[in-house]
Amino acid sequence: MTQRSKRTALARAAAILSALVVTALAGCSSREFPQTIFEPHSDYARWIQSLNVQLIFWVTVIFVLVQGTLIVAAVRFRARPGQPDPKPVHGNTVLEIAWTLAPAVILALVAVPTIQTIFRTQAVMPKGALKIEVTGHQWWWEFKYPDLGVVTASEMHVPVNKPVVLELQSADVIHSFWFPAVGGKRDVVPGHPNRIFFTADTTGTFPGQCAEFCGMSHANMRMKLMIDTPEAFAAWVAHQKTAAIEPDSTSAAGKGKAIFAGAACIACHTVDGVSAGIIGPNLTHVASRTSIAGSMYPNDAEHLAKWIGDAPGRKPGSLMPAMSGLGITADQIPMIVAYLQSLK
Ligand code: CUA
Repeated sequence: MTQRSKRTALARAAAILSALVVTALAGCSSREFPQTIFEPHSDYARWIQSLNVQLIFWVTVIFVLVQGTLIVAAVRFRARPGQPDPKPVHGNTVLEIAWTLAPAVILALVAVPTIQTIFRTQAVMPKGALKIEVTGHQWWWEFKYPDLGVVTASEMHVPVNKPVVLELQSADVIHSFWFPAVGGKRDVVPGHPNRIFFTADTTGTFPGQCAEFCGMSHANMRMKLMIDTPEAFAAWVAHQKTAAIEPDSTSAAGKGKAIFAGAACIACHTVDGVSAGIIGPNLTHVASRTSIAGSMYPNDAEHLAKWIGDAPGRKPGSLMPAMSGLGITADQIPMIVAYLQSLK
């Protein structure tokens, strides 16, 4: 191979490699991978994204240099028939200084933006931010808005373009709060409150989940982020603050309420005006949510009934027991479902 054709081959290989990398990254779109980190929707997520891109750049440079040198050395200096053994070489001061200095310089170039990002994300929280107390439970997320008087679960609503501060705490073991669209992750440690702040810049619904192994149903500890317009957020808050709906006592929902109020349900769940349990999610407006069971199932009659009948069978390790074993009969379940569906 002539020198020129070698160079052409090398250029072609580099072009193919770049095309592959770009295609692979473009493939990480939110359509196929809703939990992608490559489509940031908040200031925090953009800082992380920028850091990520810089790191990918440097590791790509290192990869190409190291692998390129390796391939050139392997091809050019390979053993050929009839050739004598090569002479052993000992030490090369220039080379040794170079391969000590080069990684040090690259590490420094990586350290500067990394430390800058750490300080940025740990800065004093912005004034006037909306405070949300996030509690990780095995295996669902609770969201309290102390200044708005709202408590909900599994689905967190935030207004677009407004700073939000999340105060993270755990009710039991270590969890990790992670909504890839707005940044993270941040560990949720018992007895050690953490916080994270961001300003979301796009409306939409984005998935998130616990990112720290926390027991049997860790993978089922999911959540949804609803980034609303200011008007939609205000409407959501106003609705969540309304009293629980009182069903007609002769309807299925009314009968369901009586069963709910007389059963073990009230030991764990709050429905304003009916019960005050704090172990499970607050159900005052459960029907206004799109999912149940730590955002694992859609919030519809079929899944509610299956969940009430046998929660541990639907979610391994669930702290909610099978209500069928606690005196709730199969014909009572549809009435409880009707009641829960009335809690809009
Ligand atoms: Cu909570 Cu994993």
